[in-house]
Amino acid sequence: MEQSPRNKHGMSRRSFIKTTATGLIATASVSAVKSSMAQNNRLGIGIIGCGGRGTHLSQALKHLQDNDKTIQFKAFCDIYRPRLDKLADIYNGKKYMDYRELLNDKEVDVVIIATPDHHHARQTIEAVKAGKHVYCEKPMTHWTQWELAKQMTDAVKQSECVFQIGTQAMSDSVWKQMKELVEQGKIGQPVHVECGYFRLGDWGERGMPIDDPNAKPGPDLNWDAFLEDAPKREFDVSRFFRWRMYADYAGGMSTDLYPHILTPVVYTIGVHMPKIVVGIGGKLRYEEREIPDTFDMLINYDDKTDLALLGTQANEYQGTALRGQNRVPVIRGWEGTLTINEEDIVFWPAKALKTKEPERIPIQKGENLVDYLRSFIDCCIRKDKATLSPIDMAFEVQTTLIMGMLSWKNSKMYTYEEGKGPIAL
Ligand SMILES: NC(=O)c1ccc[n+]([C@@H]2O[C@H](COP(=O)([O-])OP(=O)(O)OC[C@H]3O[C@@H](n4cnc5c(N)ncnc54)[C@H](O)[C@@H]3O)[C@@H](O)[C@H]2O)c1
Repeated sequence: MEQSPRNKHGMSRRSFIKTTATGLIATASVSAVKSSMAQNNRLGIGIIGCGGRGTHLSQALKHLQDNDKTIQFKAFCDIYRPRLDKLADIYNGKKYMDYRELLNDKEVDVVIIATPDHHHARQTIEAVKAGKHVYCEKPMTHWTQWELAKQMTDAVKQSECVFQIGTQAMSDSVWKQMKELVEQGKIGQPVHVECGYFRLGDWGERGMPIDDPNAKPGPDLNWDAFLEDAPKREFDVSRFFRWRMYADYAGGMSTDLYPHILTPVVYTIGVHMPKIVVGIGGKLRYEEREIPDTFDMLINYDDKTDLALLGTQANEYQGTALRGQNRVPVIRGWEGTLTINEEDIVFWPAKALKTKEPERIPIQKGENLVDYLRSFIDCCIRKDKATLSPIDMAFEVQTTLIMGMLSWKNSKMYTYEEGKGPIAL
């Protein structure tokens, strides 16, 4: 799971990106990539899921197509024809209503998965079996799919394919800078971490609009494909367009928003599977939904570090030190504390809290989705599996979040046992 800041050629990630951006992608290692790329020196991109996130990712990927010239849009897939037509027409791609057909397309080297949570694992497993590199949106899976998350991890690791989960906060240099400070012993043993996510709004991105209140299943809307192995139900326009409100398809704060902050924090402090997880929460503001709008988790790692992961969708105040929509972490160690203020990392030595100004270390570079995708594409070109957010870390984060949901649902503490998974205590 450790991520090296340098690739196997000894270049830093940033200097490699600079090199590729100037068009020098035809290095010796490029010859290892798939045939369609060999033809035009670009990776063919297939987008699965043409809703809000698929659209946003396509806009970001267009920079790589137009400026870096490392990729080319090839194909799009959605089970709802109007969204498929809209996005595929903008980028002049082939259209599929079944993702398996897109995976069979020889011109597609890389798939971008931006479907609802319960599809991510199956689509990733089938994609890597078809030899495609995968950028899969967070969360890895639906919160009831721990076994599938495990299978997905195994499938990616057994394949030659590159994988990155959609936690773009990992493109912010602050995490790598703080990780280095932690590894250098700046704060000693991390003992206590606070972090969280606060926003206002009942069901997430863009309010999840209902595109067409009269939509019905048929040739242009495949309801069975939307459900896949989720519980069988009659078509419901709200479930289809506003799936984030329903427990069959979404996990709310935990799996929807916490991957964005838990991923960089566990990377920074260098912890893996949790020992104990407790989750509490509820619908404290928005009654219409099925899943909590307010959710808090307490996590223990290795009997050494406690982590409090707090958040609500009912109030967006994040404290005074903002960074994106995440509440900035406070990482307390035996020898001092690391946190963030504006564009600085702030270090407070443990013994000088009242007498000294803290040390301030400028953050080199903020979060950037284009950079995050560029870094992934560069890994695909080099076949370097050490992406900014690789499968092992995604699995550890997802397991922790699933344990939080199970704890809330069953009113029990959960532990993790290697070989068995989450277990109620
Ligand atoms: N990284 C981020 O910041 C971020 C932001 C937003 C969403 N996301 C993630 O992206 C995913 C999609 O979210 P969204 O907001 O775009 O939802 P959305 O409803 O706007 O889009 C999902 C699309 O997938 C389509 N779809 C459903 N089942 C499909 C299937 N079997 N095959 C092909 N297409 C299918 C739907 O018709 C819809 O157009 C979610 O998992 C979400 O967590 C991540």
